[in-house]
Amino acid sequence: MASRVSVMGSVLINDNDMDRRRIELVSSIAEEINKRRTFAIISHPDAGKTTLTEKFLLYGGAINLAGSVKGKATARHAVSDWMEIEKERGISVTSSVLQFNYDGYCINILDTPGHQDFSEDTYRTLMAADSAVMVIDASKGVEAQTRKLFKVCGMRGIPIFTFINKMDRDANDTFELLDEIEKELGIATCPVNWPIGSGKRFKGVYNRHGNHVLTFSDTQKGTREGETTVIPMDNETLLLEKIGDEALSILRDEIELLDGASAEFDIEQVRKGKLTPVFFGSALTNFGVEVFLQNFLKMATTPLPRISQGETIDPVENDFSAFVFKIQANMNKAHRDRVAFMRICSGKFDAGVEVRHVQGGKVMRLSQPQQIMADERKILSEAYAGDIIGVFDPGIFSIGDTVCAPKNDICYEGIPTFAPEHFARVRQMDTMKRKQFIKGVNQIAQEGAIQIFQEFHTGMEEIIVGVVGVLQFDVLKYRLENEYNVEIKLEPLPYEYIRWIENKDEVDLNKLSGTSDMKKIQDLKGNPLLLFINQWSIGMTVDRNKGLVLSEFGRN
Ligand code: G4P
Repeated sequence: MASRVSVMGSVLINDNDMDRRRIELVSSIAEEINKRRTFAIISHPDAGKTTLTEKFLLYGGAINLAGSVKGKATARHAVSDWMEIEKERGISVTSSVLQFNYDGYCINILDTPGHQDFSEDTYRTLMAADSAVMVIDASKGVEAQTRKLFKVCGMRGIPIFTFINKMDRDANDTFELLDEIEKELGIATCPVNWPIGSGKRFKGVYNRHGNHVLTFSDTQKGTREGETTVIPMDNETLLLEKIGDEALSILRDEIELLDGASAEFDIEQVRKGKLTPVFFGSALTNFGVEVFLQNFLKMATTPLPRISQGETIDPVENDFSAFVFKIQANMNKAHRDRVAFMRICSGKFDAGVEVRHVQGGKVMRLSQPQQIMADERKILSEAYAGDIIGVFDPGIFSIGDTVCAPKNDICYEGIPTFAPEHFARVRQMDTMKRKQFIKGVNQIAQEGAIQIFQEFHTGMEEIIVGVVGVLQFDVLKYRLENEYNVEIKLEPLPYEYIRWIENKDEVDLNKLSGTSDMKKIQDLKGNPLLLFINQWSIGMTVDRNKGLVLSEFGRN
């Protein structure tokens, strides 16, 4: 190529130089993006998610002492609290993002509220993850909340890695645990390691790939590494000494059974979310955590491409783009601020550079871009695909919105609306404050904390609120009182299931023949929905109305 000369500032640069610099820039962006692993940890409360996260952070050097992320009983619970409700109940309603480096990787953990009263936000956070770690308590197996969160991961087909925790306590039979995961969640399992006993007789794990045993010693909580000995399977003498005759004989039988019964390891199946690699360990005593982390990081994907209007947006090839997956109000009560959390899907984000808010049709600069880790906020100058940034939101963003480089036309698929499981009729105590009431309810709904519905084919007079976790009812009441000065009364409704009508244009709702306990409602856009008390009624209604297609997820 002929070498022309351009003027950049006061420096003369020729085309060859510019090409080289461009290539260097692109490859350094690619390097940053490929280092990233962005995942969520899903589990039922008390399975050990917080303990495992703390140990991850410990390995990454992000914290010095395990136990500083959050806990229930101690003062450390306050780190991600933002509302009195959380403090009163000693739980964490909000989620935050934890970023740290380990072994050349830049890890983003999307921390999801672990309490039983989790909200729709927990589901939405999963939309921002590229993979998920599923923590299961070895003595409890697959529990309700894990099942729900898994369903959302399954819908996206993201890779899922299983950590079966608390092996230092008496555990369920290992084969039965795997069988339960396969049957209940519909995903094939492939144990990467295999436990040798559990509880007081827990001796360690057998590593299938390396054909060796890692011995367990009950080390102090919070230390970085326990005392683990690696023993090859052919070192019979040492094995007998460390794990004993009986455990060794059982292990040999189990390995034989396992090799015959378990699915072959296939990384492609893992990446499609059809096969989950399974690890056993004990987060509390720090056994098996680093092995898990190392293997997980190798197998987990770099930031995944996302779909915009039928087109695949590659994280490395494309300029900056991101979507809003969460909006949180009042993170700083003194300022009544709103923060929009965005997942960067492609390219590099430079603070101060203009971006296009696609849904708002405006070119703008994102205000105060920050990384939010527990209660710490760090102002960012740059971030990459895979990262999560929080930006100040003057009330313009909605969940699912896209921002991208001004010259591009990207619009990511919206985030589904997840089925609320609790419903209540909202009564306003002071009818004079109707305006504030409507404003408050709408704003809180826009942030995604609640979903609002109306009686079918009537006006806005009666509002029905649906929430994923019952705590959101308290949040709604609290916020309406504190922020909008409106008092409300909530009358619980008996429904637990909501279904969107996928083919609403083909169905005559007036002729719909449901069960006697079915209730027709509509969302604010007039879309019809059905409420049910139990799953049996859903099946009955589908049976009675030929062609009716119901869905658990709604599209915005
Ligand atoms: P979560 O975030 O999933 O809700 O669980 P969390 O890590 O808070 O763990 C729940 C309880 O289980 C904690 O005990 C924790 O110490 C314990 N735990 C976690 N991993 C293991 C493990 O591998 N083995 C054993 N034996 N216990 C484990 P707690 O008494 O409820 O709380 P804390 O006072 O210790 O914080």
